[in-house]
Amino acid sequence: MGCSVWAVGNYAGWGDRFSAVGTRLVAEVGVEGFDVLDVATGHGPTAIAAARAGGRVTGLDITPELLAIARRRAHEAGVRVDWVEADMTAMPFPDRSFDRVLSTFGAMAAPDHRGMATELVRLCRPGGVIASTAWSLDSVYSKIGGIVGGLLAGDDEDDAEPGPMPTDWADPDAVRSIFAGLPVTVETVARTVTVRWPSIEALIDVLPEFGPLAGAVEALRAAGTWDAARTALAEMLAAESSSSTELVAEVPYAVTIATR
Ligand SMILES: C[S@@+](CC[C@H](N)C(=O)[O-])C[C@H]1O[C@@H](n2cnc3c(N)ncnc32)[C@H](O)[C@@H]1O
Repeated sequence: MGCSVWAVGNYAGWGDRFSAVGTRLVAEVGVEGFDVLDVATGHGPTAIAAARAGGRVTGLDITPELLAIARRRAHEAGVRVDWVEADMTAMPFPDRSFDRVLSTFGAMAAPDHRGMATELVRLCRPGGVIASTAWSLDSVYSKIGGIVGGLLAGDDEDDAEPGPMPTDWADPDAVRSIFAGLPVTVETVARTVTVRWPSIEALIDVLPEFGPLAGAVEALRAAGTWDAARTALAEMLAAESSSSTELVAEVPYAVTIATR
């Protein structure tokens, strides 16, 4: 299978800076003694937090390179997780297999939001909980994507049809319509997580190696606009940071809790 874009660079190093989100999510929904699925587990931070908290955990992802890191980390932590390489849009489990269906910054990226929500609900037992997180539109991560994507789109930007966005999963109205008609009650809660980097340059320097953006950065380089992007990114990040030495950002995200 494989999903090469997420295997490029060091996603685990990137994601470790906000792994507190998964730990907090696990504490919020409670997993002890429950069958737990972590959808798009990546390098496994949320799955491993759930296993530490006493869940019987399965972590699913499409990228074998990240699952290998997850497997190693679970072993080092002394916890058991079943790791499954599969596509989250059609998961290889029977209906109603799990009491908790979690996803930190994973399900939000499915191209078909409604189809993804239906799949999450399918796997959740009655009385169980689906809990998913997504970056808000005004988060530093959305702004990075906006700057890079905006420069890449150039003059064509106005012609582009806006499709479903991962940030829809952080918009309470959009979330309500994504889950409309499914047998769940849905609540969306706004949160922030503190993310630290040694410096603004340290973050910008990894972007050419960051899987989902690597191709865009390469295209900007080819077009001679990567330096302009770096300048715009540095200005935006300086405005976001509460520190003048490191980069310290309070990053907004939303938690969607759907109770079946
Ligand atoms: C932003 S990362 C989130 C990883 C982890 N949950 C975290 O909190 O850091 C997105 C993950 O989605 C996975 N992914 C993308 N498309 C997928 C698909 N169709 N099926 C399963 N996993 C997918 C990627 O491999 C990557 O691990």
